[in-house]
Amino acid sequence: MESITASKEWQRLAELRRGRQDRRISDTFRADPERAKDLSAEAAGIFLDISRQRLDREILDALFALADARDFSGARDALWRGEKVNHTEQRAALHMALRAEPGDGVGDAETERFVIDERARMRALVERVRSENRFDHVVHIGIGGSHLGPALALDVLDAAHPDNEGIAVHFVSTPDPAPLAKLMRTLPRERTLLALVSKSFTTAETALAFATLADWLSQGKDRAQVLREQVIGVSANVAAMHEGGIPGEHQLRMPEWAGGRYSLWSAVGLPVALRFGMPVFEEMLAGARAMDRHFRNTEPRGNLPLRLALTGIWNINFQDARTHAVLPYSEALAQLPAYLQQLEMESNGKHVDRDGRTVDYRTAPVIWGGVGMNGQHAFFQQLHQGTDWTPLDFILVAGPDHGLRAQRDCVLANGLAQAEALMNGGADESGDALSPYRAFPGNRPSTTILVDELDARRFGALIAMYEHKVFAQSVIWNLNPFDQFGVELGKKIAKRVEPAVSGGKVPDELDPATRQLLNRIVRRET
Ligand code: F6P
Repeated sequence: MESITASKEWQRLAELRRGRQDRRISDTFRADPERAKDLSAEAAGIFLDISRQRLDREILDALFALADARDFSGARDALWRGEKVNHTEQRAALHMALRAEPGDGVGDAETERFVIDERARMRALVERVRSENRFDHVVHIGIGGSHLGPALALDVLDAAHPDNEGIAVHFVSTPDPAPLAKLMRTLPRERTLLALVSKSFTTAETALAFATLADWLSQGKDRAQVLREQVIGVSANVAAMHEGGIPGEHQLRMPEWAGGRYSLWSAVGLPVALRFGMPVFEEMLAGARAMDRHFRNTEPRGNLPLRLALTGIWNINFQDARTHAVLPYSEALAQLPAYLQQLEMESNGKHVDRDGRTVDYRTAPVIWGGVGMNGQHAFFQQLHQGTDWTPLDFILVAGPDHGLRAQRDCVLANGLAQAEALMNGGADESGDALSPYRAFPGNRPSTTILVDELDARRFGALIAMYEHKVFAQSVIWNLNPFDQFGVELGKKIAKRVEPAVSGGKVPDELDPATRQLLNRIVRRET
């Protein structure tokens, strides 16, 4: 395949960039009264406005031409057909099948069967646990994709269902002693259920955290019986669940063809179903499904995930943006930046393309962010007046107001105002001599995502929109977004370091900095 940067479509975009150096976003609004409308679109309950980006119709057309040249539609079809798009691991990536309805044509009949069977098993287990009323607490033990999605979903749904009194969910993502000790001090052993969630079932941190809690749960009891009664396993590794003593009826299977960071829609979403019930879990799936259908069937110009993806390509590859901030104006979405960090950076944080060549263009940026209103009193200073600029996603939630209208209005007004201030900038209005310090350069772009309400359905659609954005960018960058070999090396070294932390010999092959630190750590303990 020809290098992307040599293609005429890429060159055209570079040329457009050169020709637009001096133009400000605010000028483009003055030149085109239809701009806000033209550069906004809506699907599956999500309203997406890219009019505050440094682009125009001509640039957008050139970006769509780039997507065409990369055979975006062909790649999307291959994904949906269940081809082994994860070529390095010889796997399909069919997370959409987890939320599809029969007849949606995601993958093959075997894929569909798996989803139907596992959903039925999950439903039966969830309904039994909820109706037996034996447990008040579930501890969800998992990391990365086996943690971030359900943790975020729980925050969102707790806010959406304030009266819910279902089983309390606690997340353990690492073997950090402090939170583990706290849980073991405070939870009632008899009324606590452990959910051990790990696609591979080989993640060392998860295994250790689980063993700690399982030991605690079985103090003075028959461990095997506790494992049989108070543990649910969620994994693609069925043999390991058996070996670990988890009985078949407490095992929920994850498919090999859904990557960890795309697995919220499988039994990894178990805590959602345990706390809120299967119908709410299925609402979340329905929202994601609506976005899947939109992404698959809508022509490029009205396609939300594609618009989002191409906006990113424009900022990253043609305007040198190195980071991207996600700013939800909703505390329920406080964990969204962390979720998207994994989704985007683990998927597209790569420098070798599908053909094994080192790329000569930038790929996934650093994703960061936080609740917008808190950011205003912390890092927004740099966003407004720093030497760098950062593309931003403002995420606004219009309702409900929970009977606190003025408070809702305050939050929304701030989100709207910040986007405007960043774009328009402004001179010092105080009239004092320090004006350069108070001036705002402006012309700092942002995207606005607006939802009327953050319920299970719209939340599902929001997350699926970002999933497809990541896929679309991977097509442009010619990357495999579904493997993650970059996480392996550190894990291997940790295995060699651990005995030394525990007081064993410090291996000579470790680098001098590690050896010095190890010597200090071990000395402190003795
Ligand atoms: O180390 C990275 C990673 O493999 C992620 O891709 C994954 O989501 C996470 O670890 C947890 O993996 P598992 O679910 O297999 O424990």
